[in-house]
Amino acid sequence: MGRRDGLVGLSSNVDLPAPDVSVPNALKYYGNQGFSTLETVVLLGGHTVGVTHCSVIKDRLFNFRGTQKPDPSLNAFYVFFLGNFICQNNNDDMFVFLDSPSSVVTVDNSYYKMLLEGKGILPIDNELAFDPNTANIVKTLAGNNGYFLDLFGKAIVKMGMLGVFTGNQGQIRHVCWETN
Ligand code: HEM
Repeated sequence: MGRRDGLVGLSSNVDLPAPDVSVPNALKYYGNQGFSTLETVVLLGGHTVGVTHCSVIKDRLFNFRGTQKPDPSLNAFYVFFLGNFICQNNNDDMFVFLDSPSSVVTVDNSYYKMLLEGKGILPIDNELAFDPNTANIVKTLAGNNGYFLDLFGKAIVKMGMLGVFTGNQGQIRHVCWETN
């Protein structure tokens, strides 16, 4: 609230990487906007809160890359629990916490600890822990909450400086998800 926002809201105008974007392509995407590899891994730490829908992860649970089997890198308990309870019967609208259920309303480094346990929910989350460009950064952030919080604050402020509307551009919305 308070920032100027667009006068139209169309999903076709949105420029965001897909959930199955590769780590190198995610680094390229954020790199093009001035973020280093470290800053990009830190920004992905935004997944310390919130949810994803079963539609986004069902291939990891039931048919990973056409194998008719789950993603072998996904934690076995998660495969069982999410596949048999939360996302069963192809219920695309059900949602899954991106961070551990005990920490999903807290901004902290538990997201990175989850990645090291094979509990990265989105494909991009999971791959951060394995990609040679990012694996060591994930380990460092998993081991130091203060370091993560410091970098996360700075990276979020930097991201907030992208494409800022000024003057008469757009409008300050009364409700953040719709135009006035
Ligand atoms: C390569 C980069 C990224 C990809 C591919 C990605 C992908 C996704 C996907 C697929 C979802 C779930 C959407 C749904 O099922 O409804 C999601 C949720 C979310 N993402 Fe990301 N994301 C990325 C970067 C970020 C960044 C940089 C932040 C913030 C700093 C962020 C914050 C969030 C939050 C807070 C949610 C939860 C939304 C909710 O609970 O409604 N993501 N992301």
